[in-house]
Amino acid sequence: MSDGRVVMVGTLRAELDAALRNRYGAERLDDLDAFAAADAVVAVTSGVCGVRAEHLDRLPGLGAIVNFGVGYDSTDVAEAARRGVAVSNTPDVLTDCVADTAVGLVIDVMRRLSAADRFVRRGEWEHGVPALARRVTGARVGILGLGRIGLAIAHRLAAFDATISYHNRRERDDVDYAYAGSVLDLARDCDVLVVAAAGGPQSQRLVDAEVLDALGPSGFLVNVARGTVVDEPAMVAALEDGRIAGAGLDVFADEPRVSAALLDRDDVVLLPHLGSATVETRAAMTELVLTNVERFLSDGTLVTPV
Ligand code: DGY
Repeated sequence: MSDGRVVMVGTLRAELDAALRNRYGAERLDDLDAFAAADAVVAVTSGVCGVRAEHLDRLPGLGAIVNFGVGYDSTDVAEAARRGVAVSNTPDVLTDCVADTAVGLVIDVMRRLSAADRFVRRGEWEHGVPALARRVTGARVGILGLGRIGLAIAHRLAAFDATISYHNRRERDDVDYAYAGSVLDLARDCDVLVVAAAGGPQSQRLVDAEVLDALGPSGFLVNVARGTVVDEPAMVAALEDGRIAGAGLDVFADEPRVSAALLDRDDVVLLPHLGSATVETRAAMTELVLTNVERFLSDGTLVTPV
């Protein structure tokens, strides 16, 4: 039975969409008239769409935005706060899978595994062997954004005897990893720069042409955060000029579109933003979203506010 208290903004994964419809009779904002939308108290969205001022204008009674995903840069949090609307995300439950993905990309791009797979499939092995790759064990890894996910990446790569350094807005006092005072310093002293910083205006194009040049012709870039953190045209140019060695990317500036210039390159690994896309983690994220919705409807608070 619909009581109109829950509305969906954008397309949600099928299980979450079905649960919200079954429990609350929720519908998508696009399918509601102004009268029906006025009853909504909770909006459920994801990083793909987000809730912005134009949505908020249609939701005068809204109290909370519940985001499926840890990244909420597609939602206008400042505007929501101005209107007294709380926001939640899904931290922790996806940390391991996103960190696993980052490590997979580090190994894949440095050891050229996907490129070697294509080499075998093309039947080229009968005529020779692929070019030598680069060693992962013992590599110097620079992590941009040592939050929950960055830390999980560091823990995993410690098992590869990696030397870890990081850059955050503020130095952490609870880790022994070397702190770099700027992204430029971080890039200068590592073999692979792993981007794990939150998206949003504060991190827009932090990895620019200068940083890529500091990474250098034998340096690799891995990004599991947001495409917006990297100046993508500058990255493409750096790859084309051989000014960086390769890139492993789970995120892009204009998803799901990927720059055509990247598609034929063997020195890049391209993933369709699948960092958290496992059966177990997506189920846990769905559960956390539903718990946030239920909590807000029952007592006006959120379990995982941002
Ligand atoms: C998120 O949750 O924001 C991540 O992008 C998932 O991969």
